Amino acid sequence: MARGPSAQRPKGTRDFAPDEMERRRAVEGRFRALARGFGYREVQTPTFEHLELFTSKSGEGVVKQLYAFKDKADRDLTLRPEITAPVLRFYVAEMAMQPKPLKLFYFGNCFRYEEPQSGRYREFWQFGTELIGPETPEAAAESVAFAHACLAASGLQGLELRVGHIGVLKALARYLAMDDGARQKLFALVDKREVQAKRSEAERILGPFLGGRAAQPLLGFLEDLSEGAKDRPTIQAEHAALLKELPEVGLALDSLGKTMEFLRAMGVQDAKEDLGVVRGLDYYTGVVFEFHSPDLGAESQVCGGGVYALAELFGGEPVGSTGFAIGFDRVLLALERSGRSPPPAKGLDAFIAPIGEPARPKAFALAAQLRAQGLAVDVDLMRRGPSKCLDYANSVGARKVVLLGSTELERGVATVKDMASGQQGEVPLEGLAEALRAA
Ligand code: HAM
Repeated sequence: MARGPSAQRPKGTRDFAPDEMERRRAVEGRFRALARGFGYREVQTPTFEHLELFTSKSGEGVVKQLYAFKDKADRDLTLRPEITAPVLRFYVAEMAMQPKPLKLFYFGNCFRYEEPQSGRYREFWQFGTELIGPETPEAAAESVAFAHACLAASGLQGLELRVGHIGVLKALARYLAMDDGARQKLFALVDKREVQAKRSEAERILGPFLGGRAAQPLLGFLEDLSEGAKDRPTIQAEHAALLKELPEVGLALDSLGKTMEFLRAMGVQDAKEDLGVVRGLDYYTGVVFEFHSPDLGAESQVCGGGVYALAELFGGEPVGSTGFAIGFDRVLLALERSGRSPPPAKGLDAFIAPIGEPARPKAFALAAQLRAQGLAVDVDLMRRGPSKCLDYANSVGARKVVLLGSTELERGVATVKDMASGQQGEVPLEGLAEALRAA
């Protein structure tokens, strides 16, 4: 039979079968446990928002990918592409007076209209956090350390953590009085690590803003940021003359240094300083960071975050804010690729197969009693014979099968078969829960 259009999922979306959902919930559970451990509490915001929440400060990339629509009253709305702006909207509207720091986390679906490929979807899930209040390097470091702990708890290994400071590039752009368009083009070159390869393009972008300054020192500095190979002290030493003119860049570099110190004190030893980390979203102002997985292809970024400013944009007082979002689907994909997916959840403790009509209602009464004692129990609903019931119980991973025949019932016993060993024997009904619980 030909499949009609309604049988197909929209492009870039997925269905999750029970096995997959169990793996997802297992990893989610680890993140939730850690959130508690770090003092974070959950919030939830709407799946759709006013379009303008994201158009003002989210950056070209994300705005182009919005799932925007008009509702029946002609309002401009959009499915959320991320959850930081919604949480800051919520903070400004209802939580600004609460004691600081506010430590909030969320787990929700996001929507971006992009070309789907492995690890890139139109509907995907983020586990994210926002730390609102402090502006200290230890706050930024703690956010990175929390992300680090979550990813370690997920089971992923060999992740690369890159930590940079977007204040360096932003201060440079301010110093040159670059307009938004030119700034975005220049940042994109740094982000793609292409300043050296596309030197003439970088020079063309900078040209109108040089105002008599020599291009060479600036290009050399940008090249070093973009390569991400030199550490902070080397960059500071090699570009000392330029940095003298750019005190804000010096402050940003110092703040990155202090954050790295705190990060090490928090036990994160594998962070790599990388001033070429730019991030796709426009609201970042300070330390920025990304985690990449060696088990993924082009879409290797499993987590991204940093220090940002959004509260003022939504009419609030300026406030320190740092956060990150883990790409939940990419974590699951990387776990699967590296053979580290969580083990399947425990299946049924027992499957009850009533044999003969009179046993059928008794089987349901027995199931109710066993469930009330905390056991996971299922009863045959298809009126199958014992051998078909055993096949089914095997296919759903039931640990034991309870064969309940009328003659046994009269004697107050049931036959219990252990599916792993194949052994079976009679068990008195009053001791059944204990017998089923036993290994
Ligand atoms: P983001 O880097 O745009 O940051 O997204 C965070 C993570 O979501 C990415 O690292 C990636 O793993 C995952 N992701 C993004 N797009 C897709 C997609 N199309 N399919 C699958 N996974 C995807 C943010 O969204 C910021 N709100 C993070 C943040 C929180 N910054 C401060 N607080």
